[in-house]
Order: sequence, then C-alpha cells, then structure tokens
Amino acid sequence: MIRINENYQKLQASYLFVTVARKVEAFQKANPDKKILRLGIGDVTLPLTPSIVQAFHRGVDEMAQDSTFKGYGPEQGYAFLREAIAEHDFEARGAKVGPHEIFVSDGSKCDTGNFQELFSQDLKIGIPDPVYPVYVDTNVMAGRTGLAVNGRYEGLTYLNATKANDFVPDIPSQALDLIYLCFPNNPTGAVATRAQLKAWVDYARQHQALILFDAAYAAFIRSPEIPHSIFEIEGARECAVEFRSFSKTAGFTGVRCAYTVIPDTVLISDEQGKKHRLLDLWNRRHSTKFNGVSYPVQVAAAAVYTDQGKKEVRQLTDYYMENARLIRQAVTQAGLEATGGENGPYVWVKAGSDSWKAFDEILEKAQVVVTPGSGFGTCGEGYIRISAFNHREKVQEALGRLTRLWQQK
Ligand code: MLT
Repeated sequence: MIRINENYQKLQASYLFVTVARKVEAFQKANPDKKILRLGIGDVTLPLTPSIVQAFHRGVDEMAQDSTFKGYGPEQGYAFLREAIAEHDFEARGAKVGPHEIFVSDGSKCDTGNFQELFSQDLKIGIPDPVYPVYVDTNVMAGRTGLAVNGRYEGLTYLNATKANDFVPDIPSQALDLIYLCFPNNPTGAVATRAQLKAWVDYARQHQALILFDAAYAAFIRSPEIPHSIFEIEGARECAVEFRSFSKTAGFTGVRCAYTVIPDTVLISDEQGKKHRLLDLWNRRHSTKFNGVSYPVQVAAAAVYTDQGKKEVRQLTDYYMENARLIRQAVTQAGLEATGGENGPYVWVKAGSDSWKAFDEILEKAQVVVTPGSGFGTCGEGYIRISAFNHREKVQEALGRLTRLWQQK
C-alpha cells in the first residue's frame, strides 16, 4: 500500500494565497454585482515592455528556422544571459559574481523552495517572522520540523521582525546553520542597511552558517545607500546564496525567469568533514531535475539589460512604486501605522488585532482584497499587507474605498 509523506499532514490547510483566492471567489459568487479590487497577491499587471517583447519574438523566430533552431539548452542558462546578469546586476554595483556562479531558472519560488534539498535533516534553521511562506512550508515537507503549535513549527528558530527592530530581525544569540533573509522584504517592505547585512554576514561566518538571501524585489530599492545584493557586503561570498527574479523587475510572473547565485567560494561539509562546493551540489541537482528555461524567454530576459530595456523596466517599477507611495500616504492619512512602500512594493499596515477579521471586513465592506499579515507568521497578527501591483486607477479607487471605511471607524 502506498503511503503519503506524513510531513504533508503537518502543513496548514492550504497555501496562503490559495486560501485568500478561495475566500475572494466565495465572496464574488455570493455578491455577483460587486466589483472587487485586488491589492492582495503580488502579481504584476502591466504588460511586457516593447524591447522585451521584440526580443521575445526574435527568440521565437529563431526557433522557427532550421539554421537557428535550438533543442535543449544548457540547464544552467545560456551564456549570453548569465554574462549579462553578472555584468549588470553585480559588477555594475561593485559585487564580484561570475557567470559560472549564476543558475537561470523558472522562478525564485521554486529555487527558494528547492534549495533546502541540498542539506541534511538536522539543520538549525532561522526563519524570520513574518516570512514568505514558501521557506517554511518546504522545510516542513522535507521533515525538518515538528508540528505547528500556536502558528509556529516546532524545531524552527523564529526571528522576530517587528516594529521594535524596524522589521529587520536581530542577530540571534544562538548558533544557527541556515538562515533565510528577504530584502526588500516580503511581506513588510522593509529594507536592511549595509551595516545590518554586514552583521548577518559576520554572524554567518562566525558560525559557519549559510544565508539564503531572497532579493526578488531588489529593483524596487530607491534609497541609494541600500545594498541591492548581499554580495555587495564583504565576506558574503563565503556564506551566502542569492535568489533573484525577473517576475517583478520586468513583469515576468507569467513568463517565468529567475536566477540563483552561488559563489564558488561557498563550501559545505559532509559527515566526514570533507568540504564540497555548494555550487557543484546545486549544479548536480539542477541538471538532474531541470532542463533549462526556454530559449525565447532567456532572449527576452537578456533584453532587460540593454540600454533601452533598462529604461523600460525602470518605468515599470517606478509605476508600481508610485502606487506604493499613494497607498502609504492614504494609510498614514487614515491614522494607521504603516511601514514599507519606500523601497519595496508592499505596504505593511497595522489594521487591528486580528488580521483575518480585518481582511474579511475590508473584503465585505470595501470589496478590496489585501493579504492578512498573520498568514506570514505570528508576528504578522493584526497587520495586513497591501500590494502596489495594480493599475493606477484601480489602486486609487481601492484607496478611496479603504479611506471611507477607515473614516467610519
Ligand atoms: C506575494 O504576493 O507574496 C508574491 O506573489 C509571492 C510570489 O512571488 O510568489
């Protein structure tokens, strides 16, 4: 008799955004005449930009000609894309990353979720709270936790990100092995300063720990002093892996392209204490389980790094950041406490004491979808996350409705 992986029984009923989508669907069914405005899931709404679309077409045209047709590509990604990434996302910011250290993939959700496969079961894992749920759920699936008790899994070390520490977790007093960090942060929109990241890198080196750094929202940073990559920090090449994505940067959520950076200087030990390059392990996994991102998608992604492509994608992120500014302004004017929205596309709002209650009230009375903060962890209780990804007029209409709701209180 085939039996299930019992670890799946420990998971919360469904993935956060699936639960939200179900609730919204049920509300719409019960109220078919109501127009719902969505500031929930962080999904882009603006179309691909002209030079990226042209490159995409060019890639498809090449696939249609005998002389330029391509079958399987390199699992790690085509050299033209890996070289462009190394030059523009890292070298240009003074960070040393070689094309051989870049692995192109179909998304950071998959990469951050899959990466834990490379490690032993007995890791001490540091998880920020609140957090992007994928980091937690994939470790639960892999059997690295006990049961969830009061919203926290036994066996994980939670790193609180609250108002008291400006939503950047403090350096823990105990030794951890694997630490997930995400800046600009999903869900709070908070960013880490150079000094804060340096403290994390120093901690990781001291404890021979590894930082899994999710920088999917780096393109939304507007303050010049904030690092875009952990590899801008001295010492990070020994102790960090970074995840980046074209999803939010260039409107690729429906196209699918991302990449993971593993410096060839990150070493991890086996049971005998023998060191292995982490890059080689990921390469082994990647080439066994993945056949590469499609050629036209990679040609389109490379167009992000042309002069024209850079201008166009900057306009995309500027547009969403103006939405974020409007959201933060409306929330603050309503007298609510808010963070984020200045260097990231999410605004984190204190909306009472019960996030799901706030979510339900906003959906029922204003027909606006937000994300309940408690879905990201116990420290998110009482908060809601408002996403800046939508068309300007919809954001403005949603803010008008929310302002009226908040004024009635
Ligand atoms: C979110 O809303 O948090 C994002 O859509 C997450 C993701 O990119 O998977």
